[in-house]
Amino acid sequence: MEHETVLILDYGSQYTQLLARRARELGVHAEIRPFAISKIALAALQPKAIILSGGPASVLAAGAPGLSPELLVSGVPILGICYGMQLLVHTLGGTVRQGTQREYGFVQLRVEAPGALLAGIPAESTIWASHGDDVQELPAGFVPLARTSIGVLAAAEDTHRRLYAVQFHPEVMHTTHGQDILRNFLFAICGFCGDWKMATVVEELVASIRTQVGSGKVLCALSGGVDSSVVAALLHRAIPNQVRAVFVDHGLLRAREADEVSQAMRAVIGEDLITIQAQERFLKALEGIEDPEAKRKIIGRVFVEVFEAAAKDFENADFLAQGTLYPDVIESGGIAGPSVTIKSHHNVGGLPANMKLKLVEPLRDLFKDEVRELGRLLGLPETIVHRHPFPGPGLAVRILGPVTPAALRTLALADDIFIQELRAWHLYETVWQAFAILLPIRTVGVMGDGRTYEQVIALRAVTSSDGMTADWARLPPDFFAKVSSRIINEVPGVNRVVFDISSKPPATIEWE
Ligand code: XMP
Repeated sequence: MEHETVLILDYGSQYTQLLARRARELGVHAEIRPFAISKIALAALQPKAIILSGGPASVLAAGAPGLSPELLVSGVPILGICYGMQLLVHTLGGTVRQGTQREYGFVQLRVEAPGALLAGIPAESTIWASHGDDVQELPAGFVPLARTSIGVLAAAEDTHRRLYAVQFHPEVMHTTHGQDILRNFLFAICGFCGDWKMATVVEELVASIRTQVGSGKVLCALSGGVDSSVVAALLHRAIPNQVRAVFVDHGLLRAREADEVSQAMRAVIGEDLITIQAQERFLKALEGIEDPEAKRKIIGRVFVEVFEAAAKDFENADFLAQGTLYPDVIESGGIAGPSVTIKSHHNVGGLPANMKLKLVEPLRDLFKDEVRELGRLLGLPETIVHRHPFPGPGLAVRILGPVTPAALRTLALADDIFIQELRAWHLYETVWQAFAILLPIRTVGVMGDGRTYEQVIALRAVTSSDGMTADWARLPPDFFAKVSSRIINEVPGVNRVVFDISSKPPATIEWE
């Protein structure tokens, strides 16, 4: 894919990926690379502009991440953000001092001279700041543009050398005119044409799938989640009749999920979909197993067996399609810099390593929100496009203790009530993920005149941007009242409902 690219050099900010997403929202293709990018990698990317991300280091410390002087004289426009601003200043002979007053959170910005970077930004606005050091003296050639209410230099530019800098974070939503500032930089200053549009990307992906696959055959494991569904729809668009999407119903799905997914997907990809009923096989293999890791391993193994059998029927498939996304590539492929956090155990469905299939990963360059947009363009219904993530081992890791048909029924029923109410209260799309967990304990209750001794359902709802970290969702008390009373009244064998108020870390999103 040939697109004008803005290169984001990663100095370790927690907002580096967000920065790339913001640029792409504006229609500009953004790529993230480590700050110490090699000359070869740089030459391959041919960026039209470079953004230096923020980062936790201090330019005053020995061994702080640096900036190649060659970049500075290359003529490619550069925008330094937070640490990136300090790095520009420090490298070019200005002065950065250890801040006397740390600025963190909401801060007022006062524009003194808008210049090119802050053109059209109101004289006063709110920004999001997070820094200790600040700029005392700008290098020769730079003009100050704005300060914060405590007088910290917040933006500057050297239009002659095409160098721009902000001390705050325009990529964070709390910066009210952040997107306008990025727009100024990318369009007015760097002259991007805005050629990163999903409608075009679909056509390019279709073309590149055709080139890669030729007359080969592609297998695709469909989980019902948005990523694998989009992959299947895309493959169907590119190479109908050469793709087989396999949906394994392992019996550990949410209420009505198997029907909803297969109906929705059949409408889009027709005969390219096969569904395999394997509930009994999974349940039998899981009988009496309590240990979470053992459950995961068994489900993984049986899944591979079932999938391989389905694959054999498909005339020696040559390729396996996977819904790997750009954040997975950044995290596992080592292309980012210090902001990398190591992803744990969740590989893409635990597919067989010995299948000797070549990989097709059409979503490798995309963020989740872009994948959703692609899904819509490909005609997937909103129920799929906006479905919460769901773990491969399904309800098995949400039933603490042995997985039995009765436990599955109880959990699916309670979970369904929770999800129905989230939708009814228009809360479903405000959370990253929400689900119920069946606890392996019983508690005493009272119903009518009688004492009950029944099971407990825990509810989990989290906000997150990528599942790597998460916080528990602050849902309204009246909503909980409704959900709790419905679960206790409608789900046989449950007399108590609790809500999980742990964040990740130190807890995880799933309970097992
Ligand atoms: P944790 O529980 O590790 O989960 O905080 C982070 C995200 O990953 C999902 N998850 C899985 N996804 N296979 C998957 O495909 C798995 O085995 C698996 N385990 C957890 C989880 O639902 C959350 O979105």
